[in-house]
Amino acid sequence: MDYTNPSLLIDTSTLKPGAMRWRSPSNIAIVKYWGKHGKQLPQNPSVSFTLRSAATDTTLHYQPQKDNTPGVSVELYLDGERRPDFEKRTVAYFESLVPIYPFLRQLDIRIETSNSFPHSAGIASSASGMSALALCLVSLEERFFTAFAERAQFFGKASYLARLGSGSACRSVYPSAAVWGKTDALEGSSDEVAVPIEANLHDRFLHFHDDILLISKSEKSVSSRAGHGLMEGNPYADARYRQAGQRTTELLSVLRTGDVERFGEIAESEALTLHALMMASQPPYLLLEPNTLTAIRKIQQYRADSGHPVYFTLDAGPNIHLLYPEEVAAPVRDFVRGELLDLCTDRQYIADRMGPGPEELEVSGVGE
Ligand code: PMV
Repeated sequence: MDYTNPSLLIDTSTLKPGAMRWRSPSNIAIVKYWGKHGKQLPQNPSVSFTLRSAATDTTLHYQPQKDNTPGVSVELYLDGERRPDFEKRTVAYFESLVPIYPFLRQLDIRIETSNSFPHSAGIASSASGMSALALCLVSLEERFFTAFAERAQFFGKASYLARLGSGSACRSVYPSAAVWGKTDALEGSSDEVAVPIEANLHDRFLHFHDDILLISKSEKSVSSRAGHGLMEGNPYADARYRQAGQRTTELLSVLRTGDVERFGEIAESEALTLHALMMASQPPYLLLEPNTLTAIRKIQQYRADSGHPVYFTLDAGPNIHLLYPEEVAAPVRDFVRGELLDLCTDRQYIADRMGPGPEELEVSGVGE
């Protein structure tokens, strides 16, 4: 897959200012991506559910570059506030995309972005944020040049570009669920882009719930980027990559057959493996909080007592993702309110579920 294309330049003398806008969701990995190589390529395949509520809404405004600066020109506003920190990262990201989209250097770009979840809620916004941005860019390409013959090509390219911004973001461009990383268990799977697997899901998994329990809202002490890097010296790395490959194969089969119980075993095991890898890194680190463990114990106890298929998973942080099928939604809501909310910061949680994927939105305001 090579998207390099030096001919994608525009005639700025006739270009009118405009804007693109996408809302793109976050996703939660069931089999985790942890460890990378080369240009944001994964060491193992991963499988995720696309969320519905946790999302980023991004508008990319463009106009011909006014003072012909040599590089890309970007201003970035998060919730209306200019953010030099994100701006710097976006400039670096766009510069890295110049071989693919040389027109990026011909524009003045202003990005307005906001997240549906509370500001600094300790929820990773990189998957939703980078996928929303990548979708705006591919829309821009279609506006300036020719439309893709197939929507699959459009989303494939968006997935590719999102991956270069943040690995897990490449899975967010598809509805319901996606696989990223080459696996013999799925034809068409690739390390360079994610592929959709909605068609492979048994009905029991459709609209699956994911309640995100905000155990802690503080900044992570070790970033995901650093965490991936530490896998290089991790003595368990090779065994882990093999295991993730096997679990991907099994999970894909479980998702087809509707075996929610086995799904839950894999999900919980993956969550604990991810954090075990962090604890076994050099230097070791720990992102779990006491309330994370209390919540895990309560979930396991509730499952044993009620017989309901309710499971947890974790991201690279202390927050719990509570996974369960629609059929037990009513009793689980009572359990969450009665037993788990006391463990959350300000009793906050996001009642999320599997969602329909990104959506292109009308640009609001006059003059784009
Ligand atoms: O996309 P990154 O580089 O932020 O890494 C994400 C890693 C995990 O969220 C822990 C797992 C995953 O597959 O999403």
